[in-house]
Parts: sequence; C-alpha cells; structure tokens
Amino acid sequence: MANRFLIVSDIDGTLLGDDQALEELAAWLALRRGKVLLAFNSGRSTTSQRASIAATPLPEPDALIGNVGTQVERFAPREPLADWPTLAGPWNAEVVRQVLSEFDDLQLQPEQFLSPHKVSYFVHDAHGSQLADWQSRLEVAGQAVRIVYSSNRDLDVLPAGIDKGAAASFLAARWKMPRDRVIVCGDTANDLSMFEQGFLGVVVGNALPELRELDSPRVYHAEGHFATGIKEGLRHWFERVERGRLRPA
Ligand code: GLC
Repeated sequence: MANRFLIVSDIDGTLLGDDQALEELAAWLALRRGKVLLAFNSGRSTTSQRASIAATPLPEPDALIGNVGTQVERFAPREPLADWPTLAGPWNAEVVRQVLSEFDDLQLQPEQFLSPHKVSYFVHDAHGSQLADWQSRLEVAGQAVRIVYSSNRDLDVLPAGIDKGAAASFLAARWKMPRDRVIVCGDTANDLSMFEQGFLGVVVGNALPELRELDSPRVYHAEGHFATGIKEGLRHWFERVERGRLRPA
C-alpha cells in the first residue's frame, strides 16, 4: 500500500449534499482508483450506507465504518473486520438506556439507529455540564463510555475508546497505511475524532463551526461545499505529499 492514499470520509453533509459535485468527484476518483483506498465513516449503520451507495452517485468504497465507529467492514465481499470493536471497559447498552431514561430532555432515537454498541438520543442545545453529568452518572453505574455530541442535536453513547477516529485508526493500521497517507474528510463534531489521529484532514466549506474552528497545519479548510470541497482538499494533500512538501506531524 506504500504509494497509495487511504481516504476516510463522512457521508451526509460531506460526500452527500450536491449530487452533481459528487458525480464529478466520483469520476475524478475513478481515474485515480489505483492509488486510492476509499472508506466511508458515518453515524449511520453500514446497511443504511449500502442503501445510499445503491441509490446515489456515491462510488463503491473498499470499506465501511458505521454507527459512529462501532462497525468496520469490508465493502465486498461484505465481512466485518475481526477484533472490532475492542471494548476497553465495561459496557452494557441496556444499562446505558436504563440510566439515561431518567433524563427527560434525552429523547431516544428510533430503534433502527440503535445497536448493541451505540445508544443514541436527540437533545437540542446540550451544555458541557450536562454532558459531564450524563457521563458521570453512567460511570457511577459502572459503564465506561464515550459520549459524542454533534450538530447540536445528536448524542451518541458508545463504548469507551470507540469513535469514528478510533475506527479510522484501526482500519489504517490494519491496512498498514502511514498517517501521512490517510486523508479524513468531515463536516460536524462526530467527525472531530478523525481529525485527532495525526492524519491529514479536509473540512468541507459547509462544515459546522464545531469543525471550522480546527486550527492545524494538517487540516485543510476547503472553500468548496460537499464533494467539491473534498476534491479541493484531496488535490491539496495529494500534491503536497507527492512533492514531499509535508511538514512533519
Ligand atoms: C447519524 C445516525 C445517528 C447519529 C448521528 C450522529 O445521523 O443515524 O444515530 O446520532 O449520525 O452521529
């Protein structure tokens, strides 16, 4: 995989949002498919991602990361990558649901969005102190969790140590991709952990402030929105890396 790039991109609001731009990106990537490994990394399940791949101009990827980092699977043939998720501590989705059912402002998402490793809620305008409170209540109940709050609406409770970033790192390690050859793309805070792994990053122009505030020489802020922004960012990083113009991490 030495001269290849691994692109790990969020789907909704990043790849999806402008179908014509996505068609252009897909065509551009098809010309470079020999040097690119592609993975999607979404808050949605891998089954839901597959339905979108069939129904939209999304290109066929090599791997899918689903349910906010809790699922990692090969696209074809469909098979989960072994050893993921690795639980770093105690986790029981039933206990999580029971503990958080006491909080009226947390509205459980529909069952199709829940899984044995992901318990998600809708909650608008949650404050840092509330997040800390929910986290500590779960700890008191013996649960080791990672809470991810994004888009001022989605609250994901995941096993400790698991998120989109951890899953992307797992995939990169499994495929022996050096960090300078991994490019992550996103638009909201559930993508933030991908930008904290030492990879190269692209924040699309339509991203929410939660990502626009990132300030790092390894994060490129595109002007273009959705797939146009991804293409802009990929061009930027491909050129930098291939010309040896990357500053050390
Ligand atoms: C997707 C998922 C939802 C999750 C959100 C943020 O919309 O369907 O369950 O809360 O992403 O990660």
